Amino acid sequence: MKVLLLENIHPVAVQTLEAAGFDVELRSSSMSEDELVAALPGVTMLGIRSNTHITARVLDHAPDLTAIGCFCIGTNQVDLAAAAQRGIAVFNAPYSNTRSVVELVIAEIISLARRLPEKTQKMHAGIWDKSAKGSHEVRGRTLGIVGYGNIGTQLSNLAEAMGLNVIFYDVADRLRHGNARRMHTLDALLAEADVVSLHVDGRPGNAGIFGDEQFKKMKPRSIFINAARGMVVDTEALREHILSGHIAGAALDVFPIEPKVQGDEFESPLRGLDNVILTPHVGGSTQEAQEEIGYFVSGKLKNFQLEGSTALSVNLPDVQPPALVEEARIGFLHINVPGVLAEVNNILASEGVNVTGQYLATRGEQGYVVTDVSGHVSEAAISKLQASPHTQWLRSWDA
Ligand SMILES: NC(=O)c1ccc[n+]([C@@H]2O[C@H](COP(=O)([O-])OP(=O)(O)OC[C@H]3O[C@@H](n4cnc5c(N)ncnc54)[C@H](O)[C@@H]3O)[C@@H](O)[C@H]2O)c1
Repeated sequence: MKVLLLENIHPVAVQTLEAAGFDVELRSSSMSEDELVAALPGVTMLGIRSNTHITARVLDHAPDLTAIGCFCIGTNQVDLAAAAQRGIAVFNAPYSNTRSVVELVIAEIISLARRLPEKTQKMHAGIWDKSAKGSHEVRGRTLGIVGYGNIGTQLSNLAEAMGLNVIFYDVADRLRHGNARRMHTLDALLAEADVVSLHVDGRPGNAGIFGDEQFKKMKPRSIFINAARGMVVDTEALREHILSGHIAGAALDVFPIEPKVQGDEFESPLRGLDNVILTPHVGGSTQEAQEEIGYFVSGKLKNFQLEGSTALSVNLPDVQPPALVEEARIGFLHINVPGVLAEVNNILASEGVNVTGQYLATRGEQGYVVTDVSGHVSEAAISKLQASPHTQWLRSWDA
């Protein structure tokens, strides 16, 4: 089975897939729509990053494609619905860069507390300004984390190790790590935190949740960090509070409008302000994260192809069956209508097949059932399942 990997995907993905027995072709560049149309016949799995766009037309010309691995966080570049309609699974790596984001935020907390952006700027301008004014240790200060998910919790652990007191606010019930204290409202967190760091997700309701009112509620001379989503923060309001001195420093890695193309001008009301760190959405961009992404996504592609697992697929029902140890396994992607499971089991029973395990998930209009069986699945059983009007695809594996 052929795997085509585009856009310089990390070599660890090639190693993983080759070791699993796939024939891997690696290319450094992305491909245009026409190039994909010409290249995809004969390709079973495709790996891309963010610059390759997979349209419905591309998928129409990919008769052998079963899965797409997005070796990145986002999946906007793929027509997910069109892929699902064709039974093509899409995977990504939503959490592989968590540690990279956390390390950047830790660096920013210390840099802003010591006013390093200002100091380094002056040194480059030839100004020797040796003073402790406005510089603080972070030990004993309070970090307020808004959004206590993957990134928020890791930040919590590392910050505590450095001697910060951690408080957090999350809209969902989250287990507290270490000595972190849960705050029941955002206002309570803002009233206590010396540093506020946002790590909320990108749900539509989070647009503009942090503006003038929230900055006013922060402690005087506190620090503000956003490495989550640009649309969450009113940057004009932040500018006013930095200019007034109420906010002593800020670090932003994400912005409401970000340049689309490398080299395009970055426009923001935060440019040129003292003690403000601006970075071009690089929180998760490290060599280590790239390697982790390569490892994670190639593993998902491998498990899908060899064992029928759709675990963490972004467009098909999520089924994570155990490792394949029984004699055979059947994966059946179907239209989600009442009675399909009974239909599958009736066909298997009528052919004398003994079911040893069954795993089902549905997502919208589709259902996916993985059935482990002892003994051989006859051609007759496979043909009957394939003939069902609800079948999208049927695959079988032998242990
Ligand atoms: N800067 C970067 O390069 C970079 C890299 C990776 C992730 N991110 C962003 O970081 C953010 C966090 O990522 P994650 O993996 O930890 O996500 P996550 O889904 O694991 O955690 C998000 C948490 O925020 C909580 N939440 C959502 N809305 C909230 C609100 N209004 N108030 C309080 N809590 C709220 C959720 O309940 C959840 O616990 C995401 O927005 C992600 O896109 C940025």
